[in-house]
Amino acid sequence: MDDLKAKYLGLIAAAADEAALEDLRVQAIGKKGEISLKMRALGQMSPEERQLAGPALNALKDEITSALSAKKAALGDAALDERLRGEWLDVTLPARGRRQGTIHPISQVTEEVTAIFAEMGFSVAEGPRIDSDWYNFDALNIPGHHPARAEMDTFYMARAEGDNRPPNVLRTHTSPVQIRSMEAMGAPLRIICPGGVYRADYDQTHTPMFHQVEGLALDTDISMANLKWVLEEFVKAYFEVDHVDLRFRASHFPFTEPSAEVDIRCSWEGGTLKVGEGDDWLEILGSGMVHPKVIAAGGIDPEIYQGFAFGMGIDRIAMLKYGIPDLRAFFDSDLRWLRHYGFSALDMPNLHGGLSR
Ligand code: PHE
Repeated sequence: MDDLKAKYLGLIAAAADEAALEDLRVQAIGKKGEISLKMRALGQMSPEERQLAGPALNALKDEITSALSAKKAALGDAALDERLRGEWLDVTLPARGRRQGTIHPISQVTEEVTAIFAEMGFSVAEGPRIDSDWYNFDALNIPGHHPARAEMDTFYMARAEGDNRPPNVLRTHTSPVQIRSMEAMGAPLRIICPGGVYRADYDQTHTPMFHQVEGLALDTDISMANLKWVLEEFVKAYFEVDHVDLRFRASHFPFTEPSAEVDIRCSWEGGTLKVGEGDDWLEILGSGMVHPKVIAAGGIDPEIYQGFAFGMGIDRIAMLKYGIPDLRAFFDSDLRWLRHYGFSALDMPNLHGGLSR
């Protein structure tokens, strides 16, 4: 009986899978198994022999049964472990591979700009791309006869025949959102508004649809110095450098007084655009102190509140930062271009993690 025990416990321990285990069970304690046959032989024994052999055989059968089920559980665990290893899935990975889609540079730069201004206390406002003549022009101190209307190469929407109201326009800048934000939120106010704008213009640095980010800060004690500081801080954070050359040029906008256009030093040498070196300047924004008439048009008292505003070309600063020489390529939907210049969906820009990893 000791030999039987040693034999089966050894075989059970060595069994490689559940099928081998089942064979062993049949062989040992199945109907015609070795131990079962011995139990059947108990009937032919003398009562004294039976009293010795009976309990011993029963104990052996129990021992083998429990060894079988322990081994079966162990094999099951191992099989589950194996399966879990094989079916392991990283649920933090994006559902689609990197190659199947990228974040467009315009979207990426919009996020970067938003992150920087958010840090300076600006919230994000929005307005419609089709806007009224009043919001796009009149409220911004551009009356009907003003030459700035023609300069803007405006796209006008059609009106139904017999409708004599002035036509709506595809907004030519994000400045109408200044008025809408003043109306909605009053003063003090600190907003940016990124979004698409439209002008009939087309060459290497102009497309009929492009993007601006408007900025507006109103309070009782805001000066041109605040504007300059905010813009310099922005440009340094955006280009991730300690120094960039900015050029503030005196300019004119009907909705700001005084006004300044800001250029950034760059080089186009060899067809690649580099910021911070060279002898070229690329205009990136218009700015100034908000005209009192504009503040009044927004329903705020210009005797109490003043502030600055700026409008910056998102596409322009995207070209500068990522060395993209032709603006038109932004909107061609060429997959090769999108893969080359696009960003991974996981790289959400923020100031502590880095804007453009
Ligand atoms: N709206 C102006 C443009 O599109 C830019 C600007 C915005 C200038 C705000 C001054 C203040 O050119």
